[in-house]
Amino acid sequence: MKTIDDYIRSIPDFPEEGNIFRDITTVISDKDGLQLAIDEMAALADVDFDHVVGLEARGFIFGMPLAYKLKKGFIPVRKKGKLPCETESQEYDLEYGTATIEIHKDALKPGDKVVIVDDLLATGGTIEAAIKLVEKLGAKVEKIVVLVELKGLNGREKIGNYNIASVVAYDGK
Ligand code: PRP
Ligand code: MG
Repeated sequence: MKTIDDYIRSIPDFPEEGNIFRDITTVISDKDGLQLAIDEMAALADVDFDHVVGLEARGFIFGMPLAYKLKKGFIPVRKKGKLPCETESQEYDLEYGTATIEIHKDALKPGDKVVIVDDLLATGGTIEAAIKLVEKLGAKVEKIVVLVELKGLNGREKIGNYNIASVVAYDGK
């Protein structure tokens, strides 16, 4: 019986020396890998909630099928300037510089319960920004589900006191 780790392609020293790039394209190109990824992420979304919030771009790959499978709505968090209606924005730090993500102001209402989905938890900056967006709208983050976690980057500590689950976690970065 294969696990998700068997489908992830690990590329040493990419994008820089000392990093191992965990490539999920080899998970989703395989019909069994794709099923396993969505089924395992669905099993981790074991809370009462209304919407999946998926993070552009790779979070869309997993968030949409997960929402479909669990019969929930899907809400995209997009990179700045892509959403056409009124938005909330949140800036976050990248290795070099900053980035901004946005959500439609009317996508969630106070008291809504969400699961945030992304492919990867690395430094935690992206997910921390997504949590802030959800909370600006008065909604509640019930759980965060990612396929891959890089434990060496201490994302969990940055994010703090939230319920976070990963399908596969690697030591190091
Ligand atoms: C990647 C990845 C996660 C994020 C994790 O997204 O998909 O969203 O980085 O890193 P962090 O925990 O350090 O924030 P990226 O913005 O690079 O690009 P994408 O559009 O391909 O998802
Ligand atoms: Mg991403």
